[in-house]
Amino acid sequence: MTYYQLSTLCFILIIINDGLYALNNGLALTPPMGWLAWQRFRCTIDCNTFPDECVSEQLFKTTADLLVSEGYAQVGYEYVIIDDCWLEPNRTVEGKLQADKKRFPNGIKALADYVHSKELKFGIYENVGSKTCEGYPGIEGHEEVDANTFAEWGVDYVKLDGCYIDEHRMDIGFPQFGKYLNKTGRPIVYSCCWPFYQEGKGMKVNYKLVAENCNLWRNYGDIQESYSSLMGVVDVFAAKQDYWAQFAGPGHWNDPDMLLIGNFALSYEQCKTQMALWAVLTAPLMMSNKLSTVRPEFKSILQNKEIINVNQDKLGIQGRRIYLDQGIDIWAKPIEPIDEEYYSYALAFVNRRTMGTPFVYEISLKNLGLTNPKGYIIMNLYTKDDTVKHILKPSSQIKVLTNPSGVVFLKANVVTKYHFTKFEYTMDNDTFLFK
Ligand code: GLA
Repeated sequence: MTYYQLSTLCFILIIINDGLYALNNGLALTPPMGWLAWQRFRCTIDCNTFPDECVSEQLFKTTADLLVSEGYAQVGYEYVIIDDCWLEPNRTVEGKLQADKKRFPNGIKALADYVHSKELKFGIYENVGSKTCEGYPGIEGHEEVDANTFAEWGVDYVKLDGCYIDEHRMDIGFPQFGKYLNKTGRPIVYSCCWPFYQEGKGMKVNYKLVAENCNLWRNYGDIQESYSSLMGVVDVFAAKQDYWAQFAGPGHWNDPDMLLIGNFALSYEQCKTQMALWAVLTAPLMMSNKLSTVRPEFKSILQNKEIINVNQDKLGIQGRRIYLDQGIDIWAKPIEPIDEEYYSYALAFVNRRTMGTPFVYEISLKNLGLTNPKGYIIMNLYTKDDTVKHILKPSSQIKVLTNPSGVVFLKANVVTKYHFTKFEYTMDNDTFLFK
């Protein structure tokens, strides 16, 4: 069996498998999209020095406003999620969690109501152990009351972290809190940091159990504000893809962590690379940026509807790195439409070379695993150039010109019988250049 037959077989097996692992709350049937405070705002609690950047009611209200007014909500970003450092150091006398009274003067329910008034959804952070990673009260010993509190407040998404607990106890703690969330009767997306801590300790993670109990889960350490951190996460996902990818599917997703796009460290090329790879990985698309200062070129990356569609493809198949060649990494994700047994594909060509010049990579469709004898119509998802008048056959060669640390992201749509009657012109031997 060739490598491509093998990878096609793997993809088919994933689809047959799909549903076996699903958490049955009917949520997150495509990767959740939204905004999460942590990467950009961390535990900033000094509102005197950072009035518009501290973890406060104001930050989340402004974010909700901008998600709508800047067009992010319209393309699918819907969750506004608080991370760590929102709590008072103590529970109420009745034993309930309470938000920091200075920074959230109207409490969480009022904030959730505000977010809902914008037709967005509201998420919150807690920790399965005794304390959050930053030392605020955790849920341990209060699981049921906390799940009920979240439901009363109108929470739609919970990120549950894994500090201050023995990793072996996570296999009980995470499912138990999920059951309490379900018992509230409120639809709440459940994001678990469980595998990340167990992987970190070198434990064998029971991903089947994770996927049965969580809608998404972090597999690996925190993404940081640098391209090397970003590509470090990506390389781990590639190294583990033959095991991890099978657990992704509608309702249950691997999570490589937040989008860094629109912040300080990544260049334009690098931001394009992250967006393409997060689409290929069927990753949750959680921005973590200061929306009021995101420059237009970064906003257009975040709002690229074609790329979002790849990420949100209904099949929910996690893509894989299929080549590392001459410093070009090629990633492929099967997507709709499907014709007979042939998938369409999203294909990301990522330039890992450190020489300053752009690089041209040449390959046939067949060698990318694109074997539909009727052929493909290919679109460049950033430039929107396409081969619309031409059908490329498996034997067709394409040339792909990528900039250092950049990406060319293509969608190869399988040609159907319908297309066949529409297009007279087919290409067998010509070479297309995508850049
Ligand atoms: C951990 C998580 C991060 C963030 C912080 C908050 O490090 O992995 O995503 O939630 O805790 O303290």
